[in-house]
Amino acid sequence: MDVERIRADFPILRRSFHGHPLVYLDSAATSQKPKSVLEAESRFYSETNANVHRGVYALSVEATDAYEAARERVARFVHAKDPSEVVFVRGTTEALNLVATSLGRSHLHRGDHVLTTVMEHHSNIVPWHFLREQMGIEIDFLDIDANGRLRLDELDRLLGPKTKVVSLTHASNVLGTVNPVREIADRAHAVGAVVVVDAAQSAPHRPIDVAALGADLLAFSGHKVLGPMGIGVLWGRADLLARMPPASGGGEMIQEVHQDRVSYREPPARFEAGTPNVAGAVALSAALDYLEGVGWEEIAAHERALYLHARKQATRRFEGRLRIYGPTEANDRHDVISFALAKVHPHDIATLLDADGIAVRAGHHCCQPLMERLEVPALTRSSPYIYNTEAEVDLLFDGLEKVAKVFA
Ligand SMILES: Cc1ncc(COP(=O)(O)O)c(C=O)c1O
Repeated sequence: MDVERIRADFPILRRSFHGHPLVYLDSAATSQKPKSVLEAESRFYSETNANVHRGVYALSVEATDAYEAARERVARFVHAKDPSEVVFVRGTTEALNLVATSLGRSHLHRGDHVLTTVMEHHSNIVPWHFLREQMGIEIDFLDIDANGRLRLDELDRLLGPKTKVVSLTHASNVLGTVNPVREIADRAHAVGAVVVVDAAQSAPHRPIDVAALGADLLAFSGHKVLGPMGIGVLWGRADLLARMPPASGGGEMIQEVHQDRVSYREPPARFEAGTPNVAGAVALSAALDYLEGVGWEEIAAHERALYLHARKQATRRFEGRLRIYGPTEANDRHDVISFALAKVHPHDIATLLDADGIAVRAGHHCCQPLMERLEVPALTRSSPYIYNTEAEVDLLFDGLEKVAKVFA
């Protein structure tokens, strides 16, 4: 993989901060965008912009065709059986809220259980809390072991006839753990539960196959896969989506509206009330083309190398003073590393690194239950992507050595 050639496609990587070239290591929060994605979005607005599914005039038909072509592109990416299984949303957060609201209205009753895990992002916890508050469902949390892997030995105890939904992340945004979704899905299906997968942190790193994962519903965000902000995907199994009521009401999702009744269109239109982010969908399609052009195997090999390099640097330069959380084994994780440096608060680390142009994230990473479980107030996280180099990982560790000296 020619990282320098890839870097040349990302205009933002030419920027400098505080006199240093930007070292962007926060791609788990949002990825940077290649020129092809920026151009696809801008081309839509300069050449094709019209509202979709409404006009009979040629421009509107073109815009609709572009939007539906993007749906087909995403369907290919997740290996959907049909493009109608792809619902465009704003992002993973909106997708998971849609799922909880809709299942809350159709599948769940007071006393039912939703099983999730302690490593979830808040967007896969808070929507279930809404249902706990509104209708009295109960939320169970699958624990992790000392290596940051899910405790599958606890599953039998937690899965029961009352478990109606199992909602879990494919990959952790903090620990980097890649979860054995298929195994969990099989066991969830054995008790009749619906399986919801948060693929926000896996879609950037590997191709998604919804059937192979055993997912019933799956969500990811465009902005983490080189696409724009404000576009994301909810994929759902056709027969399940057909039984789910809408979560938002408005234009384009209805069949008929009268003073005393309303009926809804078939999916995906049923779940896409109002004007969608058409330019975002078109640009997301360009982003998936870009990633596929680089090649998933190349991406995996590159990220593995970056991870192993970071591990080596951590051991060589810090020994026990820098602790990386999550699985050690490269096969069980992707390349995000969250760490604690003895006696230094993560916010101080991130602030000092910023002075060298290095962008990392510090905080609870929208995973407060996980922070509680790990008994840390916060962690620092470096999340590289296809455009990062081993030299940048070295700069990160140079910066961390400086931080350690300042606080010595
Ligand atoms: C695992 C995981 N799930 C969900 C989200 C929420 O994604 P978004 O903010 O794009 O809706 C994130 C974002 O960081 C995440 O890492």
